[in-house]
Amino acid sequence: MKKILVTGSLGQIGTELVEKMRGIYGNDNVIATDLRKVEGNPVVDAGPFELLDVTDAQAMHDIAKKYNADTIIHLAALLSAVAEAKPQVAWNINMGGLVNALEVARELDCQFFTPSSIGAFGPSTPKVGTPQDTIQRPQTMYGVNKVAGELLCDYYYKKFGVDTRGVRFPGLISYVAPPGGGTTDYAVDIYYEALKNKKYTSYIDKGTYMDMMYMPDALNAIINLMEADPSKLQHRNAFNIAAMSFEPEQIAAEIKKHIPEFTMDYNVDPIRQAIANSWPDSIDCAAAQAEWGFKAEYDLAKMTTDMLEKLAEKGIK
Ligand code: NAD
Ligand code: SER
Repeated sequence: MKKILVTGSLGQIGTELVEKMRGIYGNDNVIATDLRKVEGNPVVDAGPFELLDVTDAQAMHDIAKKYNADTIIHLAALLSAVAEAKPQVAWNINMGGLVNALEVARELDCQFFTPSSIGAFGPSTPKVGTPQDTIQRPQTMYGVNKVAGELLCDYYYKKFGVDTRGVRFPGLISYVAPPGGGTTDYAVDIYYEALKNKKYTSYIDKGTYMDMMYMPDALNAIINLMEADPSKLQHRNAFNIAAMSFEPEQIAAEIKKHIPEFTMDYNVDPIRQAIANSWPDSIDCAAAQAEWGFKAEYDLAKMTTDMLEKLAEKGIK
């Protein structure tokens, strides 16, 4: 990775990934792009930034060529809850953007990363210890996009030799940029509300387990997979990775250790609850561990301590 083009770089992942990669590979070597521009944001100000709609194939090609990109990190997408509200738009952005990005990678011989998700699994998938290779029949537009995307990335590797790599991210928890409209967002919102109001109303029901990960582990996973020895990769795309699995009562109990007066109640959102019910409780990460040494540093307790400290430093109270 010498010249890295990032799409959707003002989102929850991109905001932190661009900064981390600029620290490693050099400010001028990470070209941030997004549909929107946020003045004063370090992603825009600290290195190259270009406006880019990923559904515009020619514009993506031109920007990649202008900067001699040798790597594409394709993040632009609509997340599960937004995609379910706007399925046709989601198809156009999630699939149209992905095929455009893969074509640029093929034409310009770029290494390629894009994230899949636990959303690529569905109700008929084994729910506990979900294997790397298993049944994938999701019933959401986001899940359909993610399964198709995994297959498309495999296809570009096998057919055209594009060095495609990817992970199935669980819900990501972070304090820098807000999440973009997923089912797992409650596990971010709860920390903000705990500090601001000492209470939280969860839209996900008691007893609903989902895999999660703290953002520093997610960023390391992207970089480590992209730097991994290709001869060791059997799967290449869509490695299961996760750091923890919990349900709302468990994250609330962890927060209460720091904020004893914190309380939580429920107002379940049927749409996001149905999505959560169709996802695994906990996935098996053995392939990622064996093939490129995946390891997460943060569990629920360590993440909660850090989240509350970092949000307090940001002035959230
Ligand atoms: P996000 O919603 O926070 O950010 C997406 C970014 O894409 C936004 O800045 C948005 O402006 C941009 N965008 C939207 N449409 C665009 C378009 N047409 N052209 C260019 N940019 C566009 O998303 P995120 O959480 O950073 O997720 C990035 C990727 O990781 C997605 O593929 C997502 O499915 C995947 N993922 C995320 C999570 C998570 O918990 N955050 C979990 C699993 C997988
Ligand atoms: N956090 C993401 C979502 O809920 C998982 O892909 O959509």
